[in-house]
Amino acid sequence: MQKNKFKYLLLPLVIVASLNASDMRSLLFHGNCITCHFEHKSVSAPSIDEIKENYMRAFPSREDFISYMANWIVKPSKDSSIMLDAIKKYELMPELGFEESTTREIASYIYDTDFSKKHEGHDYSSTINSQ
Ligand code: HEC
Repeated sequence: MQKNKFKYLLLPLVIVASLNASDMRSLLFHGNCITCHFEHKSVSAPSIDEIKENYMRAFPSREDFISYMANWIVKPSKDSSIMLDAIKKYELMPELGFEESTTREIASYIYDTDFSKKHEGHDYSSTINSQ
């Protein structure tokens, strides 16, 4: 009995351990950002398309894009925002309590992913908010 219980406990660990780095980034993004940021439609927050467009324009280099976004998400602030209109329209994004190492993973995922194409980690949520 004890032994069986233990087996079930281990199962989720095995699944997490078998995810590769890119699945991990995708999960972090889809699990934490698209509740507010739809990919293609701005509803209660600017869409990822809109954010990416602004960031690409302001920070064409991959490293600058990732560093700036990663820092900003750790501590959202009007002073360092590059989308002041969005703050006016939706109010400042709340602090989510992530470490910078995590927000770097998420920002690099946003930079590297072509959201106009089908991408990993999205199937389960595509019916809810893929607009
Ligand atoms: C509770 C809702 C909410 C969640 C969750 C959320 N955001 Fe936001 N975010 C907003 C709102 C509202 C804005 C627009 C106002 C602003 O810029 O602060 C915004 C703005 C932004 C901006 C624009 C920054 C700027 O220069 O103004 C970035 C980048 C961003 N979010 C990234 C993310 C990422 C990545 C995640 C997931 C880790 C995330 N957000 C999760 C609500 C949210």
